[in-house]
Amino acid sequence: MEVIIRPTAEDACRLSARLIADRLRAQPRTVLGLATGRTMERVYEHLAAAHAFEGLDFSLAVTFNLDEYLGLGPRDPRSYRWYMNTHLFSKVNIDPRNTYLPDGLARDVDAECARYEELMREMGGIDLQLLGMGRTGHIGFNEPLSAMRSRTRAKALSETTLEQNAELFGGVANVPRRAITMGVGTILDSRRCLLLVTGEDKAWVLAKAVEGPVTSMISATALQLHPECRVIVDEEAAQLLENRDYYRWIFDNEPEWERYR
Ligand code: GLP
Repeated sequence: MEVIIRPTAEDACRLSARLIADRLRAQPRTVLGLATGRTMERVYEHLAAAHAFEGLDFSLAVTFNLDEYLGLGPRDPRSYRWYMNTHLFSKVNIDPRNTYLPDGLARDVDAECARYEELMREMGGIDLQLLGMGRTGHIGFNEPLSAMRSRTRAKALSETTLEQNAELFGGVANVPRRAITMGVGTILDSRRCLLLVTGEDKAWVLAKAVEGPVTSMISATALQLHPECRVIVDEEAAQLLENRDYYRWIFDNEPEWERYR
């Protein structure tokens, strides 16, 4: 794991977008794993700007999203499909046929999950997985007790997550109780991971995710097992990390970060 601390959320989002853009330039047929949530909106704005002003090319890119609410179809403005179309896909030159999300209206949920896993395999696996983190420390919708080796499946959302997302649904009672999500094992199979976390309300759980013991109660701790995981955070989220001076030194001194400084 490599933890990179940037002064503000804007800096953290910009750096994350640059790392994604650089991967896409190095490997135009990249298979990207994508995430949703408020934190990611700014990252997608930067990627859309890189497409508009620097010619960043998405024409060969393939994307798989982490998750989708069960019961919501693609035309529902609260679905993650709608979110992705709005924030990214409609703003870049990606072929919509190369953008995949789990089908929230699938009648046979188990079959849909198996199909999603199979598709990722067929496309060669995820090259770079972008991740946010919920307040329970979940990645995707891998709520507490998600097995370290879990694959794509339906998962019930915890009370904390329902509350966190209530605003977008006009109250807790309207938030879907279940979602299809890539499993922790699915995420760990990606070649590279980028976890982006900002804001002081996540400082406590971020410290546990990065410096705490690996536990299925906090699925982000599983990323400690990933061979190439970068964690990009702002100072607010980093404030409870014990080794933050060491992490700051890495960004300021390691040659691989030189062109991002
Ligand atoms: C949802 C998504 C997660 C995301 C999290 C954080 O729960 N399923 O993938 O990381 O929200 O969202 P936000 O960035 O809005 O805090």
